Amino acid sequence: MIPEEKVREVAERISIVEVVSEYVALRRAGGNFLGLCPFHGEKTPSFNVNPAREIFHCFGCGSGGNAFSFIMKIEGISFPEAVKHLAKKSGIEIEERQLTPNEKKNQDEHTQFLRINDLTTSYYRSILLNGQEGEPARQYLAKRSVESPISDAYRLGFAPDRRDGLVKHLKNNGADLDSALKLGIVRKSETGWYDLFRNRLIFPIRDSRGQVIAFAGRVLDAALPKYINSPESPLYHKSSVLFGLDMALPSIRIGNSVIIVEGYFDHLALYRAGVLNVVATCGTALTGIHSSMIKRHAEKVYTLFDSDNAGKKATIRSMELFLEQRIPAYVISLPPGDDPDSFLAMHPAEEFDTLRVKARPAFEYFVRSVLAETPPDSVDSKVRIIDEIVPRFRKIVDSVERDLYEKEICRLLGITVHALRKRMGGGKLSGNEDVEGKNTSIQPGDNVQDILMALLLNYPEARAEITNTGLESMFANDYLELARLVLANLTDFNSSQRLSQLAEVIEKPELKTLFSRIMVSDNYLANVEWRTVFDQCSRSNEKKKVASIKEIAAQLAVLDPGSDEYSRLLMQADTLRTRKSKL
Ligand code: GTP
Ligand code: MN
Repeated sequence: MIPEEKVREVAERISIVEVVSEYVALRRAGGNFLGLCPFHGEKTPSFNVNPAREIFHCFGCGSGGNAFSFIMKIEGISFPEAVKHLAKKSGIEIEERQLTPNEKKNQDEHTQFLRINDLTTSYYRSILLNGQEGEPARQYLAKRSVESPISDAYRLGFAPDRRDGLVKHLKNNGADLDSALKLGIVRKSETGWYDLFRNRLIFPIRDSRGQVIAFAGRVLDAALPKYINSPESPLYHKSSVLFGLDMALPSIRIGNSVIIVEGYFDHLALYRAGVLNVVATCGTALTGIHSSMIKRHAEKVYTLFDSDNAGKKATIRSMELFLEQRIPAYVISLPPGDDPDSFLAMHPAEEFDTLRVKARPAFEYFVRSVLAETPPDSVDSKVRIIDEIVPRFRKIVDSVERDLYEKEICRLLGITVHALRKRMGGGKLSGNEDVEGKNTSIQPGDNVQDILMALLLNYPEARAEITNTGLESMFANDYLELARLVLANLTDFNSSQRLSQLAEVIEKPELKTLFSRIMVSDNYLANVEWRTVFDQCSRSNEKKKVASIKEIAAQLAVLDPGSDEYSRLLMQADTLRTRKSKL
């Protein structure tokens, strides 16, 4: 635990320009510094650092935050680690709070666990590399064209066909067998201790920092089960581990995308072919924890699962997770019967790249696979298809995207949008969402919201005024959410609290992006009279609202008062009037 005062002390001491300069060549451009964004590939700089605000923001990829956020993202480390990292650089000593005896015990045990895994890795590795016992595994790897550099990179090993080889090795090195038992790699019976893995090729499983936390063992023949994994343990929770993440991080950072595969050997085959931004799940379906980890590191994800039925199911299941978390997801399809390993054995890496470029959006893939299973050749089957699609369709958050898919689904099924919406719940979903969607056009334009947000951030008096007027009438969508967060976290108006600290409490990436964008580009507001600007914004809002009420009135005049559309617009006009009267 790092005490909050220490975090602030580090924040005081560092300069964001210096911190960023270690990674990015920056040049001055007005009040900001400008450089090539390290988080996505670009040729013209859109990466801005604002020294006064202590905020960075990339207009290309939307990443942004303060110096801690920058280090977290570029080093792939947690907040406390980033604080320590920067503390070290600025010569601040961080004494962590004294550990309680219990915490101390846990820490010691943790160290012991890691040591045991290191001993285990090197034991299996030495069996693989040296001596007669490793021969079958060496032959197996040769047969699968796994050469030394690859074997090194994965720290592959071989568990010999012995009852207690690992047990003895651990004992000889003074490791505590009860701790090894907790890791599940050795077991105990009446007749004594014995190993979990026997006669298996060993893949060490590492966390994002490269520490070995578990093992997977593959048979060398067609025996079953094909794999045995370490059980869940204090170090290893398979639902939150992505195999190969430590190897993939640098490349994920450059391309801002990640490919997810299911198998250890799939991972290996891609890595061998030079495709490095790859992670694999460890013998489990993709979980929400996995997808949020992915979201932390990449902006776009590709799934590359087997083309069989199980693979299809996994693809669709993962699509739902990505829709929920708003991560753009694409599906790479291999020719039927191929997996990445077999494909790359027969084709050069460039051909894989062609497949990647041709990857389809996951939702489109999903719709097509539903249609392939149930051809839309009768009313009945169309209804079934819609019912299959709708629950997922609802998860598409982006309204533009939803519009597109709505049209596409209707086109593919040969039905009208009206019919689709009706099926989606008596037009209820479309009704509600439309009101919301249309509202964006009558909300203050982004520009006005940007200015208001900048006022909110910079002028405590404006903050009070905006709060009194009502946040809802000034902000919508992400802006509204951000405004609430800002107000909740900037409680002490007079404190010297730095605005850039807010970057640490904003979790949602889209809000983070919005925040850093406004912070990095609000120089123009530095010396204005906030009241004048505020009044301008209010007037502009009002004008827009009046204009759209007029528009709606005109539309109502030509519509059938009994139609759905009519009542929908009426409702919208009502909402507008209430809003206007609040203004
Ligand atoms: P190869 O078939 O040798 O290319 O290995 P692979 O790693 O590609 O395995 P496969 O495609 O058969 O399975 C994909 C992944 O599912 C594996 O990497 C494992 O993570 C997991 N898996 C497969 N079989 C088993 C099993 O029997 N037990 C467990 N726990 N996991 C398995
Ligand atoms: Mn496979």
